[in-house]
Amino acid sequence: SRVSGASTSASADPHGAVTVLKASNARFPASFAFGVATSAWQIEGAGGKRPESTWDAFAAATLGRDAAAEMRRGIEFYERYEDDVKMMSEAGVKNFKMSLSWPRLMRADGTKREEGFKFYERVLGALRKSGIEPHITLFHWDTPIWLCFANRTRSSNGVCEGAWARDEVVEAFETYADAVFERLGKGVKYWTTISEPKTICELGYGAGMHAPGRRGVEEQLKVGHNMLLAHARAVALYRKKYADLGGKLSLNLNSAWAEPASDSMDDATAAANAMDEELGWFADPVFTGDYPRSMRSRLGYFLPQFTEEQKAQIKGSVDFFALNHYTSYYVKHVPAPVAASQLGIGGKPQPWEITLFAESSKEPIGKEAQSNWLRVVPWGLEKILLHIKEKYDDPEIIITENGVDIAEKGDIAETLDDSERVQFIDAYLGAARSAMRKGAKVIGYFYWSMFDNIEWVDGASKRFGLVYIDYSGKYGQKMKRYPKKSLEHYSAYMRG
Ligand code: NOJ
Repeated sequence: SRVSGASTSASADPHGAVTVLKASNARFPASFAFGVATSAWQIEGAGGKRPESTWDAFAAATLGRDAAAEMRRGIEFYERYEDDVKMMSEAGVKNFKMSLSWPRLMRADGTKREEGFKFYERVLGALRKSGIEPHITLFHWDTPIWLCFANRTRSSNGVCEGAWARDEVVEAFETYADAVFERLGKGVKYWTTISEPKTICELGYGAGMHAPGRRGVEEQLKVGHNMLLAHARAVALYRKKYADLGGKLSLNLNSAWAEPASDSMDDATAAANAMDEELGWFADPVFTGDYPRSMRSRLGYFLPQFTEEQKAQIKGSVDFFALNHYTSYYVKHVPAPVAASQLGIGGKPQPWEITLFAESSKEPIGKEAQSNWLRVVPWGLEKILLHIKEKYDDPEIIITENGVDIAEKGDIAETLDDSERVQFIDAYLGAARSAMRKGAKVIGYFYWSMFDNIEWVDGASKRFGLVYIDYSGKYGQKMKRYPKKSLEHYSAYMRG
């Protein structure tokens, strides 16, 4: 049995299902996989002469060269992975979700970068020696810069011409996946192809706030389409060519829980439509072969079509449901959307609005974390797990990311004493446990993240880690790692 070191923590649920975790009901099945998650660009740094990705270029263009240079150090995982694996092992980590850097592994001409493969062989070797199971993501946002340009040659102004919006990405991704499965696939049981396609589409190609910084209301739909095609091709390839390796594959879908702001029919419909877009945009295709009907009717011909052959390849292209979940919000019906803020993906009017307040309440949905998009709402996790169970035919679910950021405090002792994170973990795990008791087949949970790391445009300022990183060396040594209280706490879950 697995019992947490936790005593009690509770979070009030305005909808009746109070999420309370006591030591007595914190038991998880012995087979339950607890782990920690990271991604390549956020931790590795550019050591080993790692070639440029869209994120390096975007950071330099938007934040300036100095900030970008800092980011290119990551947390120096490239240089320090041995110590980091040791630290994980001592903390009882049994499952480690990591991503591979595509530019580290593949050149524009389709040949492999040997030193990149050697690096990951060393990392996987260290993990294996420590009895830590790797869960590998092929792509977590760091597109090779050469995919931006026609003929894979940088244009004179260096502006990215599309990356995932260009059709050749599908084949390039398949070639990359093939190389990885062949060289690193032995002994790896869990794979995901692409992490959070929705975030990439919306922020990278819709709003232009993430790499590659493009703004195209229609382009983001095309990007999502290409991501689904690339994912499906990689999975089909694995099943055909590498089936004997016995791995399971999925893609990481991020979704908030969208709760109706009132019990009116209109708000219920609005919230259901919002969930179609939050989760269904990518989940429906991989489970049913096509986009949600509500998206088709709203977006019309802006939403690309799959051929019958593509549908057949996409449907059933996941072996488990990989859910990244952080937060929840309320949804209110908007009768006649016209304002720019009411335009949703595809630039189409969106007949709903997102709010922090239920109609009957003056309290926001949950406490704000360091990042203002993140509200702590444990009951939302329970609801989304049960929604997945019902809507997608009761799949096995791994919560591949869940976590909270907390601002650095005045001194190190205070920063390391992260009780809010301890409570967050207990409450969200309590919610997962509750969904499991109601039948959701949750088989694993990964805390995001093992270490503080480079939170994309927010850089080193946002701290999600169980381990503090002293980026500037203000407490003595640059990049030194300091375990937070939450690491010890979460260890009790991981140790079982
Ligand atoms: C989701 C992303 O996958 C990850 O890269 C990011 O750091 C966390 N959420 C926190 O925002």
